[in-house]
Amino acid sequence: MNWAVTTYDSPFGYVSAKGAPLVDLLDPQPGERIIDLGCGTGAFSAEIAERGAEVLGIDGSAEMIAQAAALNPGLSFAIGDAHDFTTSETFDAVASNGALHWMTADPDAVIAQVHAALRPGGRFVGELGGAGNCAELIVAMQTAWRVFGLGEPELPWYFPTPAEYATRLEEGGFTVRLLEHAERPTLMTEGPNGAADWVRVYMAHALADVPPELVEPLLGRIVDLAAPALRRESGWVADYVRLRFAAVRKPDGAAPMPVGPFADP
Ligand code: BEZ
Repeated sequence: MNWAVTTYDSPFGYVSAKGAPLVDLLDPQPGERIIDLGCGTGAFSAEIAERGAEVLGIDGSAEMIAQAAALNPGLSFAIGDAHDFTTSETFDAVASNGALHWMTADPDAVIAQVHAALRPGGRFVGELGGAGNCAELIVAMQTAWRVFGLGEPELPWYFPTPAEYATRLEEGGFTVRLLEHAERPTLMTEGPNGAADWVRVYMAHALADVPPELVEPLLGRIVDLAAPALRRESGWVADYVRLRFAAVRKPDGAAPMPVGPFADP
């Protein structure tokens, strides 16, 4: 389901990062070789390919990859887990749009695999949910679960703070060129029942454990709790918060950042 701050000058191009298409930040060049990590059904891969780059879409779901291949004939796709995918050659860039927050097992392992897939100087550009993402939706859901005496549902996402993700990138061998954390309220055009639809789609695993007779009352309570913050005359608005970054793989053998009291001035 697609529910559907700055400017800066760099090898990535001069773009308004807030709300601008991520592909503009990536700035693919004709002939570049680029991985779309967590490609889903390949919409972002197609945008990259339209700029003349050679794209390889990777996703952990065989169903997604089958659909991506069917929808985008001529593009290359492969099934792979972002935590341990390997490539036989190096790439100019790795990009990821709206997928890194689903890769919860070990964010450092994902960054390490991206590093290994890039040539020195290669770019890692992405957008994921940032700290505070969907906070109203999540609090409404957790409160309702408690009201109905159910154990708190496990959240299947990783929404880092900018400081945390920048540290992971730097420690993973990248220089961070841009990192921004911005609210992006988004109309739930495909979810007329707002918070209830959102929970049905994205928390289906937790809903499956709820006694059937409690499902509708539980969803009704979530709607009541979330509506004051998220329901407008024009429809429901999801309280998305995006973390967007552009980083460059450091050259091989780059000196580690000096740290601590004995670092050179
Ligand atoms: C997101 O894109 O931020 C998102 C989508 C579904 C569930 C949670 C977060």
